[in-house]
Amino acid sequence: MASNGQAEKVAEVEENVGDNGDTVTPWDVQSKSDKGIDYDKLIERFGCQRISDDLIQRIEKVIGQPVHPLLKRGIFFSHRDLEFILAQKEAGKPFYLYTGRGPSSESMHLGHLIPFVFTKWLQDAFDVPLVIQLTDDEKFLWKNLTIKETMKLAKENAKDIIACGFDLNKTFIFSNFRYIGQSPEFYQNIQLVAKNVTFNQAKGCFGFTESDSIGKIHFPSIEAAPSFSSSFPFIFGEDSNIPCLIPCAIDQDPFFRMTRDVAPRVGLHKPALIHSVFFPALQGAQSKMSASDETSAIFLTDTPEQIRTKITKYAFSGGQSTAEAQREKGANCEIDVTYQYLRFFYDDDEKLQEIKKDYTSGKLLTGELKKILIEHLQKMVADIQERRKKVTDETVDEFMKPRPLSYKY
Ligand code: TRP
Repeated sequence: MASNGQAEKVAEVEENVGDNGDTVTPWDVQSKSDKGIDYDKLIERFGCQRISDDLIQRIEKVIGQPVHPLLKRGIFFSHRDLEFILAQKEAGKPFYLYTGRGPSSESMHLGHLIPFVFTKWLQDAFDVPLVIQLTDDEKFLWKNLTIKETMKLAKENAKDIIACGFDLNKTFIFSNFRYIGQSPEFYQNIQLVAKNVTFNQAKGCFGFTESDSIGKIHFPSIEAAPSFSSSFPFIFGEDSNIPCLIPCAIDQDPFFRMTRDVAPRVGLHKPALIHSVFFPALQGAQSKMSASDETSAIFLTDTPEQIRTKITKYAFSGGQSTAEAQREKGANCEIDVTYQYLRFFYDDDEKLQEIKKDYTSGKLLTGELKKILIEHLQKMVADIQERRKKVTDETVDEFMKPRPLSYKY
Protein backbone atom coordinates (compact mmCIF):
# COMPACT_ATOMS: atom_id res chain seq x y z
CA MET A 1 0.00 0.00 0.00
CA ALA A 2 1.30 3.42 -1.00
CA SER A 3 1.25 4.87 2.48
CA ASN A 4 2.81 1.84 4.07
CA GLY A 5 6.13 1.49 2.35
CA GLN A 6 9.32 2.06 4.19
CA ALA A 7 9.67 3.75 7.53
CA GLU A 8 10.09 7.51 7.44
CA LYS A 9 13.56 8.80 8.06
CA VAL A 10 13.66 10.19 11.56
CA ALA A 11 17.15 11.53 12.06
CA GLU A 12 18.89 11.50 15.40
CA VAL A 13 20.41 14.92 14.78
CA GLU A 14 18.91 18.36 15.21
CA GLU A 15 16.33 19.02 12.48
CA ASN A 16 14.55 22.02 13.91
CA VAL A 17 17.01 24.82 13.17
CA GLY A 18 17.89 25.38 9.52
CA ASP A 19 21.22 26.73 8.28
CA ASN A 20 19.37 29.97 7.44
CA GLY A 21 18.50 30.43 11.12
CA ASP A 22 14.79 29.54 10.72
CA THR A 23 13.63 27.69 13.81
CA VAL A 24 10.49 25.55 13.52
CA THR A 25 9.34 23.29 16.34
CA PRO A 26 5.78 22.78 17.65
CA TRP A 27 6.64 25.21 20.47
CA ASP A 28 8.86 27.77 18.79
CA VAL A 29 8.72 29.41 15.36
CA GLN A 30 11.21 32.12 14.46
CA SER A 31 12.85 33.53 11.39
CA LYS A 32 15.78 35.86 10.98
CA SER A 33 14.41 37.25 7.70
CA ASP A 34 11.72 39.96 7.40
CA LYS A 35 10.06 37.82 4.73
CA GLY A 36 9.51 35.17 7.39
CA ILE A 37 10.17 31.44 7.15
CA ASP A 38 11.71 30.16 3.92
CA TYR A 39 9.17 27.44 3.14
CA ASP A 40 11.10 25.92 0.23
CA LYS A 41 14.02 25.27 2.55
CA LEU A 42 11.68 23.98 5.25
CA ILE A 43 10.02 21.50 2.88
CA GLU A 44 13.43 20.18 1.94
CA ARG A 45 14.61 19.96 5.53
CA PHE A 46 11.44 18.22 6.73
CA GLY A 47 11.24 15.99 3.64
CA CYS A 48 7.65 16.75 2.65
CA GLN A 49 6.22 17.63 -0.79
CA ARG A 50 5.02 20.93 -2.22
CA ILE A 51 1.40 20.79 -3.46
CA SER A 52 1.59 21.13 -7.24
CA ASP A 53 -1.03 22.60 -9.57
CA ASP A 54 -1.54 19.11 -10.97
CA LEU A 55 -2.36 17.79 -7.51
CA ILE A 56 -4.87 20.61 -6.98
CA GLN A 57 -6.54 19.71 -10.27
CA ARG A 58 -6.70 16.09 -9.22
CA ILE A 59 -8.35 17.07 -5.93
CA GLU A 60 -10.92 19.13 -7.83
CA LYS A 61 -11.66 16.16 -10.04
CA VAL A 62 -12.12 13.82 -7.10
CA ILE A 63 -14.46 16.14 -5.15
CA GLY A 64 -16.19 17.62 -8.22
CA GLN A 65 -15.82 21.22 -7.05
CA PRO A 66 -13.17 23.96 -6.88
CA VAL A 67 -10.76 23.78 -3.95
CA HIS A 68 -10.93 26.25 -1.04
CA PRO A 69 -9.09 29.58 -1.54
CA LEU A 70 -6.70 28.61 1.29
CA LEU A 71 -5.50 25.76 -0.93
CA LYS A 72 -5.73 27.63 -4.23
CA ARG A 73 -3.62 30.49 -2.83
CA GLY A 74 -0.89 28.24 -1.47
CA ILE A 75 -1.62 28.82 2.21
CA PHE A 76 -2.00 25.07 2.48
CA PHE A 77 1.14 24.40 0.48
CA SER A 78 2.76 21.11 1.44
CA HIS A 79 1.76 17.50 2.06
CA ARG A 80 2.70 13.92 2.76
CA ASP A 81 0.90 11.11 0.91
CA LEU A 82 -2.09 13.20 -0.15
CA GLU A 83 -2.17 11.12 -3.36
CA PHE A 84 -2.81 8.03 -1.26
CA ILE A 85 -5.85 9.68 0.38
CA LEU A 86 -7.20 10.76 -3.02
CA ALA A 87 -6.77 7.21 -4.31
CA GLN A 88 -8.76 5.94 -1.31
CA LYS A 89 -11.55 8.35 -2.14
CA GLU A 90 -11.45 7.45 -5.84
CA ALA A 91 -11.73 3.78 -4.94
CA GLY A 92 -14.71 4.52 -2.68
CA LYS A 93 -12.72 3.52 0.40
CA PRO A 94 -12.88 5.37 3.73
CA PHE A 95 -10.53 7.77 5.46
CA TYR A 96 -10.96 10.23 8.32
CA LEU A 97 -9.66 13.65 9.34
CA TYR A 98 -7.71 14.42 12.50
CA THR A 99 -6.71 17.86 13.75
CA GLY A 100 -6.30 19.58 17.09
CA ARG A 101 -5.71 22.58 19.26
CA GLY A 102 -3.60 23.32 22.30
CA PRO A 103 -5.84 25.34 24.64
CA SER A 104 -3.51 28.00 26.05
CA SER A 105 -5.79 31.03 26.10
CA GLU A 106 -9.42 31.75 26.89
CA SER A 107 -10.05 32.95 23.37
CA MET A 108 -8.65 31.77 20.08
CA HIS A 109 -7.14 34.25 17.63
CA LEU A 110 -7.39 34.58 13.85
CA GLY A 111 -4.39 32.32 13.23
CA HIS A 112 -6.03 29.47 15.15
CA LEU A 113 -9.00 29.71 12.85
CA ILE A 114 -7.11 28.73 9.69
CA PRO A 115 -6.79 24.95 10.21
CA PHE A 116 -10.39 24.75 11.41
CA VAL A 117 -11.85 26.75 8.51
CA PHE A 118 -9.95 24.49 6.15
CA THR A 119 -10.80 21.27 8.01
CA LYS A 120 -14.49 22.17 7.94
CA TRP A 121 -14.22 22.61 4.19
CA LEU A 122 -12.45 19.22 3.85
CA GLN A 123 -15.11 17.55 5.98
CA ASP A 124 -17.86 18.87 3.72
CA ALA A 125 -16.04 18.34 0.41
CA PHE A 126 -15.04 14.72 1.17
CA ASP A 127 -17.94 13.88 3.49
CA VAL A 128 -15.77 12.18 6.11
CA PRO A 129 -15.66 11.86 9.90
CA LEU A 130 -13.39 14.13 11.93
CA VAL A 131 -11.71 13.85 15.33
CA ILE A 132 -10.37 16.95 17.10
CA GLN A 133 -7.83 16.61 19.92
CA LEU A 134 -7.66 19.30 22.62
CA THR A 135 -4.23 18.97 24.20
CA ASP A 136 -4.95 20.34 27.67
CA ASP A 137 -2.20 18.00 28.93
CA GLU A 138 0.33 19.56 26.53
CA LYS A 139 -0.46 23.05 27.76
CA PHE A 140 -0.23 21.87 31.37
CA LEU A 141 3.29 20.59 30.65
CA TRP A 142 4.49 23.62 28.68
CA LYS A 143 2.71 26.59 30.26
CA ASN A 144 2.35 27.99 33.72
CA LEU A 145 -1.22 26.70 34.13
CA THR A 146 -2.90 24.28 36.53
CA ILE A 147 -4.59 21.10 35.29
CA LYS A 148 -8.00 22.57 36.17
CA GLU A 149 -7.23 25.73 34.20
CA THR A 150 -6.17 23.87 31.05
CA MET A 151 -9.28 21.69 31.23
CA LYS A 152 -11.45 24.78 31.46
CA LEU A 153 -9.66 26.40 28.53
CA ALA A 154 -10.25 23.22 26.51
CA LYS A 155 -14.01 23.56 27.00
CA GLU A 156 -13.97 27.25 26.12
CA ASN A 157 -11.91 26.58 22.98
CA ALA A 158 -14.28 23.76 22.02
CA LYS A 159 -16.99 26.42 21.74
CA ASP A 160 -14.89 28.51 19.34
CA ILE A 161 -14.20 25.40 17.29
CA ILE A 162 -17.86 24.34 17.20
CA ALA A 163 -18.74 27.90 16.09
CA CYS A 164 -16.76 27.18 12.89
CA GLY A 165 -19.75 25.07 11.86
CA PHE A 166 -18.70 21.43 12.29
CA ASP A 167 -21.33 18.76 11.77
CA LEU A 168 -22.25 17.08 15.08
CA ASN A 169 -23.01 13.83 13.29
CA LYS A 170 -19.53 13.63 11.85
CA THR A 171 -17.33 15.26 14.51
CA PHE A 172 -15.85 14.00 17.78
CA ILE A 173 -14.00 16.53 19.95
CA PHE A 174 -11.97 15.19 22.89
CA SER A 175 -9.76 16.55 25.64
CA ASN A 176 -6.76 14.38 26.50
CA PHE A 177 -7.25 14.66 30.27
CA ARG A 178 -10.82 13.37 29.93
CA TYR A 179 -10.59 10.95 27.04
CA ILE A 180 -7.62 8.86 28.17
CA GLY A 181 -9.72 7.53 31.05
CA GLN A 182 -12.62 6.74 28.73
CA SER A 183 -10.77 4.79 26.08
CA PRO A 184 -8.30 2.01 26.91
CA GLU A 185 -7.72 1.69 23.16
CA PHE A 186 -6.43 5.28 23.00
CA TYR A 187 -4.01 4.66 25.86
CA GLN A 188 -2.88 1.39 24.26
CA ASN A 189 -2.01 3.20 21.02
CA ILE A 190 -0.16 5.88 22.99
CA GLN A 191 2.05 3.19 24.51
CA LEU A 192 2.45 1.45 21.16
CA VAL A 193 3.99 4.65 19.82
CA ALA A 194 5.98 5.40 22.97
CA LYS A 195 7.67 1.99 22.91
CA ASN A 196 8.84 2.57 19.35
CA VAL A 197 10.50 5.98 19.71
CA THR A 198 13.86 6.40 21.41
CA PHE A 199 14.95 9.42 23.46
CA ASN A 200 17.55 10.12 20.78
CA GLN A 201 14.90 10.28 18.09
CA ALA A 202 12.72 12.55 20.21
CA LYS A 203 15.69 14.87 20.77
CA GLY A 204 16.44 15.02 17.05
CA CYS A 205 12.83 15.53 16.08
CA PHE A 206 11.73 18.05 18.74
CA GLY A 207 14.91 19.55 20.17
CA PHE A 208 14.33 18.17 23.69
CA THR A 209 17.26 18.34 26.10
CA GLU A 210 18.24 16.42 29.23
CA SER A 211 16.62 19.06 31.41
CA ASP A 212 13.15 18.82 29.85
CA SER A 213 10.56 17.07 32.03
CA ILE A 214 9.84 13.44 31.18
CA GLY A 215 6.23 14.55 30.61
CA LYS A 216 7.32 16.63 27.64
CA ILE A 217 9.43 13.85 26.22
CA HIS A 218 6.51 11.44 26.37
CA PHE A 219 3.89 13.89 25.10
CA PRO A 220 4.49 13.33 21.35
CA SER A 221 3.09 9.79 21.61
CA ILE A 222 -0.20 11.32 22.85
CA GLU A 223 -0.48 13.62 19.83
CA ALA A 224 0.50 10.69 17.59
CA ALA A 225 -2.10 8.15 18.76
CA PRO A 226 -5.25 9.73 17.22
CA SER A 227 -3.62 9.09 13.80
CA PHE A 228 -4.68 5.47 14.33
CA SER A 229 -8.38 4.77 13.89
CA SER A 230 -8.43 2.09 16.60
CA SER A 231 -8.05 4.90 19.17
CA PHE A 232 -11.77 5.52 18.50
CA PRO A 233 -13.38 2.06 18.68
CA PHE A 234 -16.93 3.45 18.96
CA ILE A 235 -16.46 5.23 15.61
CA PHE A 236 -14.26 2.89 13.59
CA GLY A 237 -14.23 -0.43 15.45
CA GLU A 238 -11.63 -1.94 17.75
CA ASP A 239 -9.22 -3.49 15.28
CA SER A 240 -9.72 -0.97 12.53
CA ASN A 241 -6.91 0.47 10.42
CA ILE A 242 -8.56 3.29 8.49
CA PRO A 243 -6.25 5.85 6.86
CA CYS A 244 -6.09 9.32 8.34
CA LEU A 245 -5.48 12.78 6.86
CA ILE A 246 -4.18 15.51 9.16
CA PRO A 247 -4.62 19.20 8.26
CA CYS A 248 -2.26 21.29 10.40
CA ALA A 249 0.23 24.15 10.40
CA ILE A 250 3.66 22.88 9.41
CA ASP A 251 5.09 23.31 12.92
CA GLN A 252 3.13 20.16 13.88
CA ASP A 253 4.92 18.06 11.27
CA PRO A 254 7.56 16.66 13.68
CA PHE A 255 4.83 14.79 15.59
CA PHE A 256 3.67 13.08 12.47
CA ARG A 257 7.07 12.47 10.95
CA MET A 258 7.62 10.48 14.13
CA THR A 259 4.21 8.77 13.82
CA ARG A 260 4.91 7.86 10.19
CA ASP A 261 8.18 6.27 11.24
CA VAL A 262 6.41 4.08 13.78
CA ALA A 263 3.25 3.16 11.82
CA PRO A 264 4.59 0.54 9.37
CA ARG A 265 6.58 -1.08 12.17
CA VAL A 266 3.35 -1.76 14.08
CA GLY A 267 1.37 -2.71 10.97
CA LEU A 268 -0.73 0.45 10.73
CA HIS A 269 -1.29 3.07 8.03
CA LYS A 270 0.94 6.11 8.08
CA PRO A 271 -1.12 9.28 8.51
CA ALA A 272 -1.19 11.59 5.49
CA LEU A 273 -0.74 15.33 6.01
CA ILE A 274 -1.64 18.65 4.50
CA HIS A 275 0.35 21.59 5.91
CA SER A 276 -0.31 25.31 6.10
CA VAL A 277 2.12 28.21 6.41
CA PHE A 278 2.03 30.26 9.62
CA PHE A 279 -0.32 33.14 10.20
CA PRO A 280 1.84 36.26 10.61
CA ALA A 281 1.84 38.44 13.73
CA LEU A 282 0.49 41.98 13.25
CA GLN A 283 4.11 43.16 13.52
CA GLY A 284 5.22 41.17 10.49
CA ALA A 285 6.16 37.78 9.14
CA GLN A 286 9.25 37.19 11.33
CA SER A 287 6.99 35.65 13.94
CA LYS A 288 3.59 34.00 13.94
CA MET A 289 0.51 35.36 15.67
CA SER A 290 0.70 34.41 19.34
CA ALA A 291 -1.99 34.37 22.01
CA SER A 292 0.61 35.13 24.67
CA ASP A 293 1.43 38.48 23.05
CA GLU A 294 -1.73 40.65 23.13
CA THR A 295 -0.51 43.18 20.59
CA SER A 296 0.47 40.52 18.04
CA ALA A 297 -2.99 39.04 17.77
CA ILE A 298 -6.61 39.69 16.91
CA PHE A 299 -8.83 37.57 19.12
CA LEU A 300 -12.22 36.11 18.30
CA THR A 301 -13.53 38.07 21.31
CA ASP A 302 -12.26 41.46 20.10
CA THR A 303 -14.78 44.28 19.60
CA PRO A 304 -15.03 46.13 16.26
CA GLU A 305 -13.19 49.02 17.92
CA GLN A 306 -10.34 46.79 19.14
CA ILE A 307 -9.99 45.30 15.66
CA ARG A 308 -9.79 48.78 14.16
CA THR A 309 -7.24 50.01 16.69
CA LYS A 310 -4.97 46.97 16.40
CA ILE A 311 -4.84 47.01 12.61
CA THR A 312 -4.43 50.77 12.41
CA LYS A 313 -1.72 50.85 15.06
CA TYR A 314 0.21 47.63 14.66
CA ALA A 315 -0.28 46.04 11.20
CA PHE A 316 3.16 46.21 9.59
CA SER A 317 3.01 48.11 6.32
CA GLY A 318 4.83 47.33 3.09
CA GLY A 319 3.70 50.73 1.75
CA GLN A 320 5.67 53.98 1.63
CA SER A 321 5.78 56.35 4.59
CA THR A 322 3.94 59.25 2.92
CA ALA A 323 0.96 59.33 0.58
CA GLU A 324 3.04 61.03 -2.13
CA ALA A 325 5.76 58.40 -1.98
CA GLN A 326 3.14 55.62 -2.00
CA ARG A 327 1.44 57.10 -5.10
CA GLU A 328 4.81 57.24 -6.77
CA LYS A 329 6.49 53.98 -5.76
CA GLY A 330 3.66 51.71 -4.58
CA ALA A 331 3.82 48.97 -1.91
CA ASN A 332 5.42 45.60 -1.36
CA CYS A 333 2.53 43.18 -0.75
CA GLU A 334 4.87 40.32 0.24
CA ILE A 335 5.73 41.95 3.57
CA ASP A 336 2.53 43.96 4.08
CA VAL A 337 0.58 42.32 6.90
CA THR A 338 -2.75 43.91 5.94
CA TYR A 339 -2.53 42.49 2.44
CA GLN A 340 -1.39 39.13 3.79
CA TYR A 341 -4.42 38.92 6.09
CA LEU A 342 -6.68 39.62 3.12
CA ARG A 343 -5.02 36.71 1.33
CA PHE A 344 -6.02 34.44 4.22
CA PHE A 345 -9.59 35.65 4.69
CA TYR A 346 -10.86 37.54 1.66
CA ASP A 347 -12.41 34.87 -0.55
CA ASP A 348 -13.28 36.95 -3.62
CA ASP A 349 -10.39 36.17 -6.02
CA GLU A 350 -11.15 38.89 -8.53
CA LYS A 351 -11.37 41.68 -5.99
CA LEU A 352 -8.25 40.48 -4.23
CA GLN A 353 -6.32 40.58 -7.53
CA GLU A 354 -7.51 44.12 -8.10
CA ILE A 355 -6.52 45.20 -4.58
CA LYS A 356 -3.06 43.72 -5.07
CA LYS A 357 -2.59 45.48 -8.39
CA ASP A 358 -3.72 48.87 -7.05
CA TYR A 359 -1.70 48.64 -3.86
CA THR A 360 1.43 47.54 -5.68
CA SER A 361 1.11 50.37 -8.20
CA GLY A 362 0.39 53.02 -5.57
CA LYS A 363 -3.18 53.72 -6.64
CA LEU A 364 -4.33 52.42 -3.26
CA LEU A 365 -2.95 53.93 -0.04
CA THR A 366 -2.13 51.95 3.13
CA GLY A 367 -5.00 53.60 5.03
CA GLU A 368 -7.45 52.59 2.31
CA LEU A 369 -6.18 49.03 2.31
CA LYS A 370 -6.46 48.84 6.08
CA LYS A 371 -10.04 50.08 5.88
CA ILE A 372 -10.96 47.17 3.58
CA LEU A 373 -9.41 44.67 5.99
CA ILE A 374 -10.90 46.27 9.11
CA GLU A 375 -14.43 46.14 7.73
CA HIS A 376 -13.99 42.60 6.48
CA LEU A 377 -12.64 41.29 9.80
CA GLN A 378 -15.18 43.20 11.89
CA LYS A 379 -17.95 41.42 10.03
CA MET A 380 -16.25 38.04 10.07
CA VAL A 381 -15.48 38.15 13.80
CA ALA A 382 -18.99 39.43 14.64
CA ASP A 383 -20.48 36.48 12.74
CA ILE A 384 -18.33 34.03 14.70
CA GLN A 385 -19.33 35.71 17.99
CA GLU A 386 -22.96 35.43 16.97
CA ARG A 387 -22.61 31.69 16.28
CA ARG A 388 -20.55 31.12 19.43
CA LYS A 389 -23.29 32.63 21.60
CA LYS A 390 -25.55 29.80 20.47
CA VAL A 391 -23.06 27.12 21.56
CA THR A 392 -24.14 26.00 25.04
CA ASP A 393 -22.36 23.75 27.54
CA GLU A 394 -24.78 21.03 26.46
CA THR A 395 -23.70 21.40 22.84
CA VAL A 396 -20.07 20.99 23.92
CA ASP A 397 -20.97 17.86 25.89
CA GLU A 398 -22.68 16.41 22.83
CA PHE A 399 -19.63 16.93 20.63
CA MET A 400 -17.34 15.50 23.32
CA LYS A 401 -19.34 12.37 24.04
CA PRO A 402 -17.71 9.16 22.74
CA ARG A 403 -20.30 7.84 20.28
CA PRO A 404 -20.67 6.42 16.78
CA LEU A 405 -20.56 9.00 14.00
CA SER A 406 -22.72 8.79 10.93
CA TYR A 407 -20.98 8.57 7.61
CA LYS A 408 -21.15 6.34 4.60
CA TYR A 409 -18.54 3.66 4.14
N1 TRP B 1 -0.23 20.58 19.49
C1 TRP B 1 -1.29 21.30 18.84
C2 TRP B 1 -1.30 22.77 19.36
O1 TRP B 1 -0.62 23.12 20.28
C3 TRP B 1 -2.64 20.68 19.03
C4 TRP B 1 -2.85 19.41 18.24
C5 TRP B 1 -3.06 18.15 18.74
C6 TRP B 1 -2.89 19.29 16.82
N2 TRP B 1 -3.23 17.26 17.73
C7 TRP B 1 -3.13 17.91 16.55
C8 TRP B 1 -2.79 20.20 15.77
C9 TRP B 1 -3.24 17.45 15.23
C10 TRP B 1 -2.90 19.73 14.48
C11 TRP B 1 -3.11 18.36 14.21
O2 TRP B 1 -2.04 23.57 18.84
